[in-house]
Formats: sequence, C-alpha cells, structure tokens
Amino acid sequence: MRIDIISVMPELLHSPFEHSIMKRAQEKGLLEVEVHNLRDYGLGKHKQLDDYQFGGGAGMVMMCEPLANCIDDLQKERTYDEIIFLTPDGERYRQSIANQLSLKGNLLLICGHYKGIDERIRELYVTREISIGDYVLSGGELAAAVLVDSIGRLLPGVLGDEQSALTDSFQDDLLAPPVYTRPASFRGKDIPDILRSGNTAKIEEWRYEQALARTQARRPDLLED
Ligand code: ADE
Repeated sequence: MRIDIISVMPELLHSPFEHSIMKRAQEKGLLEVEVHNLRDYGLGKHKQLDDYQFGGGAGMVMMCEPLANCIDDLQKERTYDEIIFLTPDGERYRQSIANQLSLKGNLLLICGHYKGIDERIRELYVTREISIGDYVLSGGELAAAVLVDSIGRLLPGVLGDEQSALTDSFQDDLLAPPVYTRPASFRGKDIPDILRSGNTAKIEEWRYEQALARTQARRPDLLED
C-alpha cells in the first residue's frame, strides 16, 4: 500500500513511521509513506498558503490553488482510491473504516490547518472526510499518523502474529479482555485460575465474557449497533 500525505508541517510526520511496526512494514516493502510539503506549492515570494475568510470571521483558510496544484501533481503519478481530508467535522474514525481502508492500494491524506481548507477543494477532490474524535487538534498531522498506523498494522504480513490484529479491541465490536503475563502472582494479586487450566475452550469462553462485561461497563454504545 502507498500512502501520500499533504502537510504544511511535514516535520510532525517524520518520527511516527520510523519505529516499531510502521518501520518494519516499510522495510518489508508492504507500506510506503511519502509526506509532501504543501509550502512547496505556496503562492508568491512568501509561499502563501492561507488567506482571510470571505464574509469575515476569525481564522485563516487554506487556499485552493496550492492544494489543487499539489494534488494535481500527485495524481499525475498515480490514481488514488481515496482522497481523505482529516477534519473534526468528518465522519468519526473507527476500526471498521481502518479495515476498509487497509484493502485499498493508494491513499492520499490531506492535513488541514487554521480554519480548514476552502470548501471547493472538498467538493472537487476529497472523497472521504474523517475525524479521529470529538476534539480539535491544531492540525490534521496527528490524525493522519493515527490513520497510517491503524491501517498499516492491518496489512497482511505486517504483524508477526497474524492472529493478533483479529483479537484487538473493536475487531468484533467488543473491547479486548484483560491479559496477563508472568509472574502469576504480583503484589498479592493472582491471575485468574482459568488461565492456567489448560482448557482452551473454557479460556476462550472466559475471555469472551470478560470482553462483553468490559464493553457493557465502558462502551455500551458499541453493543447497540
Ligand atoms: N484536525 C483537527 N482536529 C481533528 C480531528 N479531531 N480529527 C481529524 N482531523 C483533525
């Protein structure tokens, strides 16, 4: 999979993909991430990217031309399955969207700043608008990093243990059950006996019950769908 990201702060996106699973995914050639500096497409000698809002109001808006020129250039190289704008007024991100996007070949992510981007770019280019949660970040970069990480780890061959992505929280609309490792007794707290029973079927049943109870207590909304 190839993911291109358009950003006015590319530095923010250097470190997140240089470690651990994302690093391995790229080294194995399963994921390619390229960050493009929108400033290269800025207008005039000041490389202007934003301007005042028509109609007045606080906050600057990212202008059409730099974004359109940058996207046009990238589209000369490849066709994108989705052009995604990261924005707090987008559709709320969740595991099922990560699953869908992990099946695509080429994604283009656009990080917004200031008051957002000119609406015409959304109408002309953007195919999907995603928010990573009901709070406002100072830019879309951290949201883009969240998408890349959550999608990248789903690509076949990226995780060592193929099973482990399937048993994550949310994969079956349930939060994950508690997990334990050695020692079996820590500061007076023992692991549940069932986990040492060797009875795989009973252990699975226990895990399911724990997942359900945890979901009911913390995220009852997940069970409503
Ligand atoms: N940009 C600013 N806030 C955001 C959010 N919550 N999700 C995605 N992009 C954003």
